[in-house]
Amino acid sequence: MTNFAYINNKFVNFRDAKIHIEDRGLQFADSVYEVVAVLNGSLIDLDFHFKRLRYSLSELEIKYKINEKELKKIFLNLINKNKSTNGIIYLQITRGVQYREHKYEKILTPTLIIYSRNKKFNLPGKDYKGVKAITHEDLRWKRRDIKTVNLLPNIIAANKAKRMKAYEAILLQNGKITEGTSSNIWIIKKNNLITHPANSDILKGVTRTSILKIISKTSLKLIEKSFSHKQLLDADEVFLTSSGSFITPIIKIDKKKINNGKIGNITLKLAEMYSKLCMNG
Ligand code: PDD
Repeated sequence: MTNFAYINNKFVNFRDAKIHIEDRGLQFADSVYEVVAVLNGSLIDLDFHFKRLRYSLSELEIKYKINEKELKKIFLNLINKNKSTNGIIYLQITRGVQYREHKYEKILTPTLIIYSRNKKFNLPGKDYKGVKAITHEDLRWKRRDIKTVNLLPNIIAANKAKRMKAYEAILLQNGKITEGTSSNIWIIKKNNLITHPANSDILKGVTRTSILKIISKTSLKLIEKSFSHKQLLDADEVFLTSSGSFITPIIKIDKKKINNGKIGNITLKLAEMYSKLCMNG
């Protein structure tokens, strides 16, 4: 149920939530966003989301001053109004409205859009599921560290995955795996946990940041290094992370089963540790 949204400085009925046709977010994807998971009414990894939002805004010189306390209040209010105790908060900040022109005026008033949606998460328990993925060429720009809504290459790959009845497309650049269309990708080989380094080739996931903290409490050896398509297919276990999917095991990639098509023990353990952390705040 999504009855309410928050646009600029007020709550509005979801149906009446509108933005200007010359909003630069609409015309140029001149805009940043965050997706925050809500689990049992709690906002997951909120501090990391604010930190990344600040970074994205600053890299694009969008002059929006974040008031964390105020935003958190709006988020909680929306969860309450929309009864989305389990779901996501979507926040988008565009550069603002201006006559259509690639160059922007220095001072525009950014547009703020926030709403919530219910979502059923794939968490460890009796219904915990492994998913299928495909691989796809990474067609994106060179500043993937900025969380912009400039997502068409991701959409093309994600829809290819959908056509192939897969959950995610894993992106390949010059023979190396970068990340998923909306997730970070991890492989396990023996005791090594390998994921792409957080540079401008990928989005530094908030879930990724949390997982790094958990790993320090295990005997796994973390390697932040890019890995090949072959390493991906030869991995003992593969999983993805994102705010919408937490830790989701990948049990088949293209035609190759991973871990005989079953959820791996290490992935399960990490997923249990992470969901415990989320539940206990
Ligand atoms: N996507 N990489 C990309 C390209 C992403 O779009 C996302 C998240 C991630 C994982 O980031 P995080 O752990 O902070 O959610 C990695 C969100 C969920 C989305 O676009 O819906």
